[in-house]
Amino acid sequence: MPNLLEAKKRTQIKPKTINYELEEKYKTLGKNKTYFIKTYGCQMNEHDTENIKAILEQMSFKETDIMENADLILLNTCAIRENAHNKVFGMIGRIKHLKESKPNIIVGVCGCMVQEEIIADEIKNKYKWLDIVFGTHNINELPKILANNLTNNKLELEVYSIEGDIIENMPVKRDSKYKAWVNIMYGCDKFCTYCIVPYTRGKQRSRTKENIIKEVEELKKQGYKEITLLGQNVNAYGKDLEVDYDMSDLLEETAKTGIERVRFVTSHPWDFTDKMIDVIAKYPNIMPYIHLPLQSGSNKILKLMGRRYTKEKYIDLYNKIKEKIPNCSVTTDIIVGFPGETEEDFNDTLDVVNTCKYDSAFTFIFSPREGTPAAKMKDDTPLEIKEQRLYKLNDLINKYAREANEKLKDKIIPVLLENISEKNEEMLMGYTDTMKLVNVKAPKEKLGQIVNVKIKDVKTWSMDGVIEDKS
Ligand code: 5AD
Ligand code: SF4
Repeated sequence: MPNLLEAKKRTQIKPKTINYELEEKYKTLGKNKTYFIKTYGCQMNEHDTENIKAILEQMSFKETDIMENADLILLNTCAIRENAHNKVFGMIGRIKHLKESKPNIIVGVCGCMVQEEIIADEIKNKYKWLDIVFGTHNINELPKILANNLTNNKLELEVYSIEGDIIENMPVKRDSKYKAWVNIMYGCDKFCTYCIVPYTRGKQRSRTKENIIKEVEELKKQGYKEITLLGQNVNAYGKDLEVDYDMSDLLEETAKTGIERVRFVTSHPWDFTDKMIDVIAKYPNIMPYIHLPLQSGSNKILKLMGRRYTKEKYIDLYNKIKEKIPNCSVTTDIIVGFPGETEEDFNDTLDVVNTCKYDSAFTFIFSPREGTPAAKMKDDTPLEIKEQRLYKLNDLINKYAREANEKLKDKIIPVLLENISEKNEEMLMGYTDTMKLVNVKAPKEKLGQIVNVKIKDVKTWSMDGVIEDKS
């Protein structure tokens, strides 16, 4: 069972690197069976789902996108805010009805939520009808857990508080043929006071550069156009390894593989070095796009959040980025209504938004997460005030997002066409180098290509364009 105090411990034990291999006896366990998996939360979870899908397919399961038809239903959950929980519990309720009419289906819950002690307890006491529950540290054990459930016919709950080894060679069924996630590190050691991630994802463990570069080269060979280096706090890459090699070195080596587009998420302003900015500026295949979570513009609140930078330091970093990479788009995350946030503190946040004029932002109302220090802080701001702050902030964010898009009107920019447009089947959609969504009038044969697009029409969250080159 997970335990938050245990999960908080940072042991000196160095994780080993272990190669995943599916045991022969599990290879036909899913024969003639289908699975359905729903994913909540961040890119890390999306990528975990890609691994889970491939493990299940090695076990002979086949994917279905109709939940009601599936023999195995899995929910890969998120714990970052309360509403993520609510969505999952709502879904579990729906699935319970389904299981009442089809008792043979296997229902599983995995991901960050079950790493929380209170949730695991709740599942154990109130959701005994579930079949399998596993955490973020033992996805590789899914075959064994499934097999045990099939043999014993009772809830198999296997969640570990402490992270284990780094598992290499996990199979992966990628969602896209053109873009791929590449994990560079797991976990986070920052312990921002509001955040549950260091508990649910464990201590920071970096993959070796050799394994990362090998994966990127392999993806390039397979025809992938874009890779995103993935981690909770990518700038801290390598700090846990005994090597003189950091995120700027990794970015540079990744760029040198010649893959067409390199991205990375998420950055913490505290670990963002000048060397990193120089590398991003130097290599045209490192995309001019940086997600740089601000969280708050008030020095008092930043201190309470344990963010390790001030408003001034953040703005300095922002200015350096814009100076060296003038076309760089910068996006952010902001939390309003953190305990103790006054109107003045909130105005400091607006002030930074007015300075940085973000290309876009994710904004949230503070959600207390049990076990984190901020959940125990005195919070006397009424919810209505927090909501008003959120609306005001969103208005400002929208204004700057639109202004940033307006500047691109009639410009020609590269777009990787990755899918059919959701709004119009005749169009394709893709992202610019600066990570802006564009719907493009283009034939389907262009899918998977990076094309030059002339921007014709601009909205707040997307743009419309036409292909400009005659290729
Ligand atoms: N409440 C609200 N927002 C949060 N985030 C993380 N933890 C919380 C919380 N307890 C936000 C941060 C982070 C993003 C992924 O989610 O802004 O950058
Ligand atoms: Fe959470 Fe802070 Fe780590 Fe990001 S850097 S995952 S906000 S603790």
